[in-house]
Amino acid sequence: GVDALVRVPPSELKKHNKREDAWTAINGKVYNISHYLPFHPGGEKELMRVAGRDGTKLFMLTHAWVNADFMLDSCMVGFLTAEPS
Ligand code: HEM
Repeated sequence: GVDALVRVPPSELKKHNKREDAWTAINGKVYNISHYLPFHPGGEKELMRVAGRDGTKLFMLTHAWVNADFMLDSCMVGFLTAEPS
């Protein structure tokens, strides 16, 4: 549910850059992409390029027509936020 979603600053996102623990942000939403990796039509290697960082630009460059919001709904972790000061 929505109340389980967390606020994820870039410093936290950065920690999740491994195959078994891969997060990315697309359009402000943070997703755990580990389980999706084997199913990505573009391959694991390409998808891992956005692990631990904001993947919005690369995602839009490769396939702006893909609805990540819909596809990764169940993988959503939270929202990308600014670094707390
Ligand atoms: C293809 C999803 C991230 C590179 C696809 C397709 C989907 C998809 C559904 C098939 C599209 C179609 O046939 O029209 C996703 C999702 C991503 C993601 C949900 C984010 C979590 C990326 C990233 C890259 C990438 C970051 C590149 C660095 C590609 C490539 C293809 C592809 C090259 C074409 C594969 C082919 O047709 O041979 N992706 N993608 N994707 N994706 Fe991704």
